[in-house]
This record gives sequence, structure tokens and C-alpha cells, in this order.
Amino acid sequence: MIPIGREDRVFILTGAGISAESGLPTFRGMNGIWRTYRVEEVASPVAWARDPKLVWEFYSERRRRHHTVQPNPGHYALARLEEELGDRFFLCTQNVDRLHEMAGSRRVIHMHGKIFESRCERGCGRPPFDDDWTLENGAEIPLCACGGKIRPHICWFGETPFEMERIAAALENCTVFMAVGTSGVVEPAASFVRYARARWDNVRTCYIGPEEPSNRAFFDEVFLGPSGEVLPQLFATEKSATDLHG
Ligand code: OAD
Repeated sequence: MIPIGREDRVFILTGAGISAESGLPTFRGMNGIWRTYRVEEVASPVAWARDPKLVWEFYSERRRRHHTVQPNPGHYALARLEEELGDRFFLCTQNVDRLHEMAGSRRVIHMHGKIFESRCERGCGRPPFDDDWTLENGAEIPLCACGGKIRPHICWFGETPFEMERIAAALENCTVFMAVGTSGVVEPAASFVRYARARWDNVRTCYIGPEEPSNRAFFDEVFLGPSGEVLPQLFATEKSATDLHG
């Protein structure tokens, strides 16, 4: 059980593991996505320059898969916690799926982008837009008005994750840091737990997942188990002063 007091500010970092029980594969496990595909062939600027159709084939398959999945009790537990804590809750996900939102989470930072968004490859000024286009039968990749190809709005290897300033501010501020279902090998997310600890003496750091992450040494506590089973019983919250009076 993790007690959350009325002054606590909670930072949650989720990874592919939280969506595993919904039927989305993780990246590095036994049946992980990177066992079937090579990262550098489908998820990097070099891959895009070399073979954009192959990149779109990969993300088209993932878009089709994402249409079929539903949130699990782990996503719902975090949505309930946000409901209780309001501004004292910060959810940052490495996942491109929309399961947190489907479970009711309102403010989700998608540091690696979103599977159902696209943007112009040229950064011409057109903002990322909602998109569920998939590449079928070797069709041509849609073009932006400026002539650039449309690409997935995903942070590829070698690119800078989104919203890093907001993330850094929340890490500076949190008193409880919790990582869920992430192997702790991909930077910068793998170092968030260290940033959180560096700022406060009394920050509490916890990990939830079926096995210890690579950055285990930086966590005070590890709750071993699938997040869909662990998260729903993990939090003991005190109503905030505002809630009590209002
Ligand atoms: P990984 O595939 O590296 O790690 C998934 C973690 O989830 C592992 O540590 C598993 O033990 C854990 N896990 C498996 N089943 C679980 C369950 N039921 N409940 C909780 N945890 C479970 O995925 P990430 O750490 O998210 O980036 O990977 C980070 C980034 O690497 C991804 O965002 C992606 C990838 O390459 C991009 O595509 C840019």
C-alpha cells in the first residue's frame, strides 16, 4: 500500500507493460515487438528516409491493432487517482496508445507521441493532427499541402521526446514517483527516477511490474505483479483539504 497524503504530488511514468493486459505487446519481452522488427528499420529518421512505406506498414499494423483494445484495471486505477488528486497528479506515458484516455484520464503527457496522430515530415508549421490512415495495398503515402510526406507523430530513436519542459517541472516537484510497466532501459525516461530523487530528500520512489526493471537500484520499493492486479489496491489517499471543505 502506498499512502498518499494531502500534500503529496504524484508523478506516474507508464510504459508498455501497463497495456500488456489489454492485449498490446511490449517491446522487449519474449513476444516483444522488437523481436519481430528491427528498431532501426521501422522507428528512426534513417528508416524513414530509406523506406517510408516500410515504416508506414509497421505503424499501419499497429493502428489496426490499437482499434481493437480496451483499458484494463490498471488504467482505470490511475484515472481514479487523478480524479482524487487533481493537480497533484501528473501522468506521463511512453505509450502511444490511447488507453489511459479511454479509461478516463484527462491530462496525459505522451512523451513518445500518439499512434492516432500524424504530421508533416518537413515540420512546415502544420500542427500534428488526428489520423487513422493505414497503408493498404501499396498505396501512396499522403502528402501535406507543402509537398512533404505525412509521417506518424511518434518520437523515433534519435529524436527528442515531446513535452520535456513540463515533464522536468513535474519531476522537480513530485514527492511520490511511480514507474509502471517499463523496463528502464530507454532514455530519457529511464533516468526520471534519478531526477526525482535528486530534487528531494524525502521523495518516495516505487516500481510496479512483474519483474524488476534495469534501473531497480533507484527505487525504494518494488511491487511485483501485473499492474492490472497491483494498481487497483495500491493507493491509500487522504482527501485533500480542498475536497474536505468543498
Ligand atoms: P519494454 O517492452 O521495454 O518493457 C515493458 C515492461 O513491462 C517490462 O519490464 C515487463 O516486465 C513489463 N510488463 C509486462 N507485463 C506487464 C504487466 N502485466 N504489468 C506491468 N508490467 C508488465 O517497454 P517500455 O519500457 O515501455 O519507444 O519501452 C520504452 C520505449 O521503448 C517505448 O516507448 C518504445 C520502445 O522502443 C518508442 O517506440 C519511441
